[in-house]
Amino acid sequence: MREVSSPHPNPSPEGEGLHDFAGRILGWYDRAARDLPWRIAPNSGGIADPYRIWLAEVMLQQTTVAAVAGYFARFTATWPTVGDLAAAEDADVMAAWAGLGYYARARNLLACARAVVAEHGGRFPDSEAGLRTLPGIGDYTAASVAAIAFGRPAVVVDANIERVIARHRLITTPLPMAKREIRAALAPLVPEDRPGDFAQALMDLGATICTPRGPACAICPVMADCRARGRADLDRLPVKPPKKAKPHRHGIAWWIERDGKLWLVRRPGKGMLGGMRALPGGDWTDAPPAESAIASVDHGFTHFDLTLNLVRREASPQALDAAAEGLWWPIADLDAAGLPTLYRKLVGKMLEKKA
Ligand code: ADE
Repeated sequence: MREVSSPHPNPSPEGEGLHDFAGRILGWYDRAARDLPWRIAPNSGGIADPYRIWLAEVMLQQTTVAAVAGYFARFTATWPTVGDLAAAEDADVMAAWAGLGYYARARNLLACARAVVAEHGGRFPDSEAGLRTLPGIGDYTAASVAAIAFGRPAVVVDANIERVIARHRLITTPLPMAKREIRAALAPLVPEDRPGDFAQALMDLGATICTPRGPACAICPVMADCRARGRADLDRLPVKPPKKAKPHRHGIAWWIERDGKLWLVRRPGKGMLGGMRALPGGDWTDAPPAESAIASVDHGFTHFDLTLNLVRREASPQALDAAAEGLWWPIADLDAAGLPTLYRKLVGKMLEKKA
């Protein structure tokens, strides 16, 4: 048996009736914390590496722990320190990120690493305000890195924590308006002594017990005073905003093949999939293309859905647009090209057809 955490008296009138919320959460975390590659086990006495914490937090935005694990391992093996990452080639980092999505994050990741080296002597600032001055670090990342890597009592709110708190306090205002209430409810509960473990405990609770559907309330450490417990509409909390209809767009990609090699380009630095390696092709538009495709894929982006159609083209000088940083890539080795998922799916379909 591990030691039980000392009680955390709750000073706020808001929190009345919330007897030692942090203590119950931390006690559960001491027993049940997930073993994650960037994490220091509770009570292990280890010291968190801000670089690894920051890298994990950036990778984990919009993505699951399972999706990130392999990327985190490869990144930290290739670039063990923020200085190593700062010195990396842009193209290598973009290729290593391929498949994780939200590619602006990878560009910001590099910009941030370089700013830490150039402006902070290779050490991350140790406060929320200091972290927020870095490229790509917004409110969430500043708070989570400040709490987890530097023990600052920051109020960390990700989607898992939002769900736990909206349910426990029965906040029925729809998102995103509920965010202020959730933050206000959480702020007085953050324990001064273990803010990083507290944040990670709430994340784990949301990921494993207080799940979006069918939460396991019977084994929840804060079930006793959860205001949403037993409600038939529990799964609906937090209340989501009405779904906006996504526009549907269309694009053409060109399959230009010669001697077992495929012509690949680099997309422009700004915009969708900016800086990533890709198949050449035209702009994405609202109208379906007139040309008939040899393969196509549907892909969902945050703000629109895309149907990308593949069309064969001859290797003419116009097709091999020299301005687009093109190169011939061996078709047998396309896995190593660092293509984002959209193009990977399309290439996969084409190769299936050829087989
Ligand atoms: N999701 C985002 N950050 C996390 C963390 N530090 N631990 C677990 N899940 C997370």
